[in-house]
Amino acid sequence: MESETLIQPKMLSHEKVPVVIYKNSREASKIVAREIADFIIACQQNGKRAVLGLATGSTPKTVYAELVRLHHREGLSFKNVISFNLDEYYTLPPDAIQSYRRFMNENLFDHIDILPENCYIPDGTVPQELLKTYCTEYENKIAEAGGIDIQLLGIGSNGHIGFNEPGSHVSSPTRLITLDLSTRADAASDFGGIANVPKKAITMGVGTILKARRIILLVWGERKADILKKAVEGPVTEFVPASYLQGHPNTLFVTEQSAAAALTRRKSPWLTENVVWDTAMIKKAVTSLALMVKKPILKLTDNDYNENGLSDLLAMYGQAYDINIKVFNWLQYTITGWPGGKPNADDTNRPERANPAKKRVLIFSPHPDDDIISMGGTFQRLVDQGHEVHVAYQTSGNIAVADDEALRFTEFVIDFNEKFSIENEGTNAIYKKALAFLKVKESGEKDIEEVRYVKGLIRRGEARNTCRFVGIPAGCIHFLDLPFYETGLVEKSPLSQKDYAIIQQVIQQVQPHQLYAAGDLADPHGTHKVCLDAIFEAVHLLKNEAFMKDCWVWLYKGAWAEWDIDMIEMAVPMSPDQVLKKRLGIFKHQSQKDGVVYQGTDSREFWQRAEERNKATADLYNKLGLAEYAAMEAFVRWHF
Ligand code: F6R
Repeated sequence: MESETLIQPKMLSHEKVPVVIYKNSREASKIVAREIADFIIACQQNGKRAVLGLATGSTPKTVYAELVRLHHREGLSFKNVISFNLDEYYTLPPDAIQSYRRFMNENLFDHIDILPENCYIPDGTVPQELLKTYCTEYENKIAEAGGIDIQLLGIGSNGHIGFNEPGSHVSSPTRLITLDLSTRADAASDFGGIANVPKKAITMGVGTILKARRIILLVWGERKADILKKAVEGPVTEFVPASYLQGHPNTLFVTEQSAAAALTRRKSPWLTENVVWDTAMIKKAVTSLALMVKKPILKLTDNDYNENGLSDLLAMYGQAYDINIKVFNWLQYTITGWPGGKPNADDTNRPERANPAKKRVLIFSPHPDDDIISMGGTFQRLVDQGHEVHVAYQTSGNIAVADDEALRFTEFVIDFNEKFSIENEGTNAIYKKALAFLKVKESGEKDIEEVRYVKGLIRRGEARNTCRFVGIPAGCIHFLDLPFYETGLVEKSPLSQKDYAIIQQVIQQVQPHQLYAAGDLADPHGTHKVCLDAIFEAVHLLKNEAFMKDCWVWLYKGAWAEWDIDMIEMAVPMSPDQVLKKRLGIFKHQSQKDGVVYQGTDSREFWQRAEERNKATADLYNKLGLAEYAAMEAFVRWHF
């Protein structure tokens, strides 16, 4: 049966597969779920079965949630659906916490009326000697069902689809595969460390996937931006298995703004369409031109503009020199050593107001170390320049503390109490319970409340240490312990009224002139994004309060990436000494040093990542022809 295509965009010149970009993953997921639902309904009307190929991982969760909603709200039935999942870890039993069978039950199957006997997922426990036959049978079952009508896919950060890792052949069948180190690193947080991630998996092959009549690949989050560009605009290559989809006649890539950011249509839109040449677009074009031709802005010539698709812009201004000066000045104005505003200075072209000279500043830090890692230099300057600086730690960050660290601190308390005969039965019992649990804890197992508390305390102590080091008093440190975070798992609860109220309360208490927040607008599942959403909502609720009229919100990038150079509205330079001081501030977070729980694929320590990123920002300014600094922290203003 032909699948219905509700969403099939025209292809752009640089793109070799159709791509549709939505505002966010929620919106995109609704459209995809609608297409699947309509297809299922069309099959029902024709007395046919709908065969779905399903994926796991963080990406499809929002689509499954929407399908569940359609089942409950609109009576969408799945009785005519047969599903085949892409993959399963080998040798995970189906009831293991991280098994894909369990994932599918929890995220979809348990909440809809699909018949259990129609849900096929590779069995991770098949003995090795039977695997070949088992995989062939899996393929046969798909064929017997009539082949896959709609195949849902995610994409790995290395370009894998299913678990077809780089190197997979275009016609590979369902088989056992050895997982890439990067795939295992991506999964490490689910397993409580990379060492516990299985080394192998059973996966449908690329050949199996390509037989599906319709393929929808979902991509969310800026960490997927580079691989999405490769899969969409690059050559078809075994090194990026998702690029094989370019050869499929009915594939659609569904994405959202942050994941799409590296595509040519977003990175250099003047190459793919007629653009409006506003300030932001001119800045984007000129900075990228300068970086491409490797010249400082003031040395760009008419030829450079003409030869690189920017003749329109040139025609508008007459000559390169005039555009160059304009953009150079815009960039120059973003640089300031006075993040809280320079007292008694003309602030016409400065990022911050001069008045009031002494500001109340509230820095929101999603985890207990984001303040120092992402804006430590600016934090220090604000304190040194006499502003009243407060820090609000949004979450306890407890799941990122290793068990042995918690064990160490628990033993410390018990030994301390024993030494000084501190007889507090209640307290001692709590620590002893934590200790007993930690000694027998299985990998990936959820911590009991007492252990989460110990881990939270460890991070609190580290954050206090940093604040002492930077020089703010205890009264300016606010631990919010937002409830949404306290699940003890990577998976968090949705934000609730309680979270908003806590954020509102601290904003009301400080009444800041400046509010700093981690602006990871991109990451759809991460804690930073949720923390930012909570701030946005709280600010929205407070925006009519008189003090909010004087409150400017500055966003720093919380994760590893930096704002694009053309977006930066305030760049705070740092001297080599300030860089060193920031490093020492980061060192206060001992539990996050030397191999952390959530290391990811980047093996650098946090202070190294921060230093390299701040140096890279300074180098970019310098390459564009501005002054040469050792490092810079960058901010974008959010107008609410
Ligand atoms: C899952 C699968 C994988 C994931 C990919 C992205 O069944 O086959 O290809 O789709 O690893 O994972 P997330 O969505 O967690 O980023």
